[in-house]
Amino acid sequence: MKDMMAKPKRGQASMRGRVCVVTGGNRGLGRAISNDLASMGAIVVLACRNVRSAVATRESIVRRTGNHRVHILECDISSMASVRTACKELDSTFARLDVLVHCTGSAPSEKTITDEGHERTLAIDLLGPFLATHLWLDLLRGATPSRVVVVTSQKHRSGVVDFEDLSFERRAYSAKQAIEQAQLGRVLFTMELARRLRGSGVTAHCVDPGLVRTESLRHASLLARAVARTVLRPIYRSPRVAAEGPVHVATSPALTNETGLYFRGLERQEPAPLVHDRELGRQLWETCERLVGIRNSVRV
Ligand SMILES: NC(=O)c1ccc[n+]([C@@H]2O[C@H](COP(=O)([O-])OP(=O)(O)OC[C@H]3O[C@@H](n4cnc5c(N)ncnc54)[C@H](OP(=O)(O)O)[C@@H]3O)[C@@H](O)[C@H]2O)c1
Repeated sequence: MKDMMAKPKRGQASMRGRVCVVTGGNRGLGRAISNDLASMGAIVVLACRNVRSAVATRESIVRRTGNHRVHILECDISSMASVRTACKELDSTFARLDVLVHCTGSAPSEKTITDEGHERTLAIDLLGPFLATHLWLDLLRGATPSRVVVVTSQKHRSGVVDFEDLSFERRAYSAKQAIEQAQLGRVLFTMELARRLRGSGVTAHCVDPGLVRTESLRHASLLARAVARTVLRPIYRSPRVAAEGPVHVATSPALTNETGLYFRGLERQEPAPLVHDRELGRQLWETCERLVGIRNSVRV
């Protein structure tokens, strides 16, 4: 078969043979990122809960890129038990992990609690990625310089982390607040990870892709879907175009010695000032450790 893998452009890394895991790689933005990484020659692992959809995505990526090294790892990121099983499976398959992209996302319209007792948005956006990153740290350390890229959004700017009631047990549920809290948690986690791993060769960044035309609002309220279809429609970008930012942050050689940066698309941006609060970062970190059942994972 003709080699359809793209030759690296100037300033672009060759990803040939590098192992890249994309959580949520079966759909939307994650699928576009996975496609781009495969076209650069990477070994791509789609970490997904929906295996049927992942199989279809895998076939499409192989067909488009000519890269057959696309794997599926079953993982429901909202379940810590599933994350642990998936992490073990990856451990037994690969000796290294060069790039970990967290691209799962949720847009709930009502409160749901996982079997393990966590509000689902928090589990999908923060706790699952937190645990998976920890369980894969040895693989990331075995591939330095390696990167963790967390896809985030502007919603972190209006977020408040209520440490007393993270799962909305004592306050009225608001899907908006749940998403904003989880998004702020995601950025705080990434920045704290970057601080704690500084000098280790494993780096971590956030990237907001901007508004992307995906199915992300399929579970959202009718109003949110109507606004997206009408008012916001002209400014939505396609997943293929929006993937440029995350793929750049995941692969650019220019970022090898950088860590703890926030991007919007291809451009660097300052995150919410709160994100630089060390005490808040430490508190979030220790809370996540407690909730997912690990201790002293990475010391400062
Ligand atoms: N779309 C936007 O405008 C926008 C803007 C800013 C940031 N983002 C961020 O971009 C990322 C991707 O969003 P998207 O727009 O591509 O959304 P999407 O099309 O809804 O994709 C979300 C992905 O997350 C996966 N997922 C959800 N819950 C999961 C779970 N429990 N376990 C494993 N996978 C799970 C979905 O898998 P299933 O197929 O199984 O549901 C899907 O692959 C998110 O982090 C989102 O916050 C999006």
